[in-house]
Amino acid sequence: MIVTSKNINKISEYFFSKKMKYINSLEKKGKKVINLGIGNPDISPPHEVINEMKKASELVNANYYQSYIGIEKLRYAISDWYKKIYKVNINPEQEILPLMGSKEGIMHISMCYLNQGDKVLIPNPGYPTYSSVSRLLGADIIYYNLFEEEKWLPNIDFLETINLNKIKIIWVNYPHMPTCATINIKKLEELVMFSIKHNILLVYDNPYSFFNKENNHFLSIFNVKQAKHVAIELNSLSKSYNMPGWRVGMIIGHKKFISNIIKVKSQMDSGMYYPIQIGAIEAMKHNYIWLKKLHYEYARRRKIIWKICDNLKLKYKKNNSGIFIWAKLNIENDIIWTETLLIKNYIFVTPGSIFGTNGKGYIRFSICCPSKILEEAKNRISS
Ligand SMILES: Cc1ncc(COP(=O)(O)O)c(C=O)c1O
Repeated sequence: MIVTSKNINKISEYFFSKKMKYINSLEKKGKKVINLGIGNPDISPPHEVINEMKKASELVNANYYQSYIGIEKLRYAISDWYKKIYKVNINPEQEILPLMGSKEGIMHISMCYLNQGDKVLIPNPGYPTYSSVSRLLGADIIYYNLFEEEKWLPNIDFLETINLNKIKIIWVNYPHMPTCATINIKKLEELVMFSIKHNILLVYDNPYSFFNKENNHFLSIFNVKQAKHVAIELNSLSKSYNMPGWRVGMIIGHKKFISNIIKVKSQMDSGMYYPIQIGAIEAMKHNYIWLKKLHYEYARRRKIIWKICDNLKLKYKKNNSGIFIWAKLNIENDIIWTETLLIKNYIFVTPGSIFGTNGKGYIRFSICCPSKILEEAKNRISS
């Protein structure tokens, strides 16, 4: 038998990867499952994006290996986008590293900065990939609690009580997945100050930024003046422009960080398909009108999910941000509750406890599902 690495035993297959196999098996038996589990935007990106990508695919150089740091035009487009959307200046030559989705960036950053036995601060609840990647690298995880009573925001006084020796990275993500909580600049400042004080790399994971506005612009960690000393930001076009399958993400940060991360990334891939980069450039030209339409559609969908929650007697907040609705059950066991909904009603929603112990007793609905199907889900539950 060929034995796996020790670290592989510390993780298991991604929850959604396993779940989708089960859902596919149900569908093969003729059951029509309504998937409200995954945040997989279903509305098309702006049609100009697809047109530009198609045209670019006819070019001979589209088939070549591409630059390890993204084509120049893409980095300049990202820099312009940051200026327009977040009101921050980012140097396109030194401070941007395009990625094939921000998820891979979690691995690159961790490989770049973590040694076996180093510690990382991870939100509970939070995106499971932070923990899995840390485990794969043999790092020790210290979870920091997020509680509903504290609006799911990090408690800096509590963070100060932790033994911070050997903490290398703190992962922070707002609008928060899965709770849909938002953050303000003041709290971001506190987090940056905490990271400077303790010399911790703050990774701000910002894929839902289009759902968090303050002072008339969307929030980036770089809205905090001193952030470039200790912080890097992961961003993505997956949710902002409905391009999750295209795999376009980015790391933004001071060149001292980017130049280190390139050492890892350039060993992992050989550049992003040229037409995708051209499509991404086009996408970032679409801002407020595009978003207005998107938010309008999501608002319609939210109302139907609220009705589903009301019918199921679940508690939720109407000011939830992002592309999910986070709801509280009136029982503890979210795993059994969601399994029952799947088996009885063929509706898949995500149990909160897959995001950490503080997600226990909650469930997450995705709003990436057309209203007509959401209505059908509502009817299935009521009948
Ligand atoms: C919090 C968070 N970070 C990162 C990602 C990765 O997004 P992508 O790889 O599509 O850019 C996701 C995806 O769902 C997410 O929810």
